[in-house]
Amino acid sequence: MTPVTSQHAASVEFDHVTKSYDAAASKAGAPGAVNDLSLSIPAGRICVLVGPSGCGKTTSLKMVNRLIEPTSGRILLDGVDAATRDTTELRRGIGYVIQQTGLFPHQTIEDNVVTVPRLLGWDKARMRARAEELLSVVGLEPATYAKRYPAQLSGGERQRVGVARALAADPPIMLMDEPFGAVDPIVRERLQNEFLRLQEQLAKTILFVTHDIDEAIKMGDLVVVFQAGGVVAQVGPPAEILASPASDYVARFVGTDRGLKRLSLFRVGELPLEPVVMAQVGSDGSIARRVAAEGTFRHVLVTDGGSRPIGWVHRDALTSGIVTAEQVESTSPLLDRRTTLKDALSMLLDADVQAGLVTDRTGAVRGMVTVDSITALMREPDARPRDALERAAGEADADADDAHPAEAAGA
Ligand SMILES: Nc1ncnc2c1ncn2[C@@H]1O[C@H](COP(=O)(O)OP(=O)(O)O)[C@@H](O)[C@H]1O
Ligand SMILES: [Mg+2]
Repeated sequence: MTPVTSQHAASVEFDHVTKSYDAAASKAGAPGAVNDLSLSIPAGRICVLVGPSGCGKTTSLKMVNRLIEPTSGRILLDGVDAATRDTTELRRGIGYVIQQTGLFPHQTIEDNVVTVPRLLGWDKARMRARAEELLSVVGLEPATYAKRYPAQLSGGERQRVGVARALAADPPIMLMDEPFGAVDPIVRERLQNEFLRLQEQLAKTILFVTHDIDEAIKMGDLVVVFQAGGVVAQVGPPAEILASPASDYVARFVGTDRGLKRLSLFRVGELPLEPVVMAQVGSDGSIARRVAAEGTFRHVLVTDGGSRPIGWVHRDALTSGIVTAEQVESTSPLLDRRTTLKDALSMLLDADVQAGLVTDRTGAVRGMVTVDSITALMREPDARPRDALERAAGEADADADDAHPAEAAGA
């Protein structure tokens, strides 16, 4: 992905915010569309507002850029009350992406992307350069797409243009209202992944609305679960909401498979690796058999001279004498450090020997992951996956000293 420069992010705080569309009813004590919302979003993080239709998500979002004014309470952007700012100037610092993207049909993609820079009076060359940069960033080849019109794009491509347009003036804050709701599940997943990768570079403060709990868990550093009547049921990092739902409502909303959902937040690289008893081809099998007899795991890994895995042999089948590759009885999956624990568990349950191998960049075995090590982590209710920023840093490390999955598979 093309690197992009980003100036800054801003914190967003809702301070006892209430919105009643019907002032008379509200005076009579009826609840509003949003009631007493207090919420603090640190700069550079993704906060997802999730809940059923009509619970006040869009209303909450539109109060940030003052398309809707709160009935009471304040919204502070980097500590400054949004109500005190000029709305035009305020909105230039806030990117806004909606489901139907709202692209201008009679303008080219390039012109659509630079809507805000044009308002800001940028010159033509700078606008063109920015449009090209942003189209590349969202995965649309500028030479192909810049001069097209919205009707000549697929739904997924139009959503990408919507994201590019929202980023054009490099706003510190982005509001995204069900941005990927109108595309099919496969395109949605791709857009989500691209957007998360982009956010690792941009580190914008993002308020993201969805009614889909899976999307909320995947995208959010912080998740706000709304319930009917514009009331917040729980606020927290996704892992915490899955591990300890605050009420029956939240537990029902996140679903009975919340344990599995939680597994999808953790990655193999976050598990402590268990040691593997290994026997190199050509070595004396009785040594490995003796070591394995002392442990609970019954298999020994046969490796080549570079400690690269060949396969497993039951410890009792290791006779004294020279270990050979022909003794291997079964294999098990190689796991990449970026594999989610949900996928890892699924692979392990399918394998002959339920131990996933983790290798380094030379293909040498570093250790293994078992069903037990996964369940042990999941029994800790306080276990937290690394957040997006730490993950990004960790993956850079992993890239530096670890095998590419394709290399490992070929080892
Ligand atoms: N402009 C409006 N005038 C009156 N009521 C509204 C208006 N916009 C939304 N509402 C009501 O406010 C509530 C919250 O709406 P909304 O914020 O759009 O919910 P969500 O985005 O979670 O589906 C709903 O009951 C909705 O009918
Ligand atoms: Mg809505």
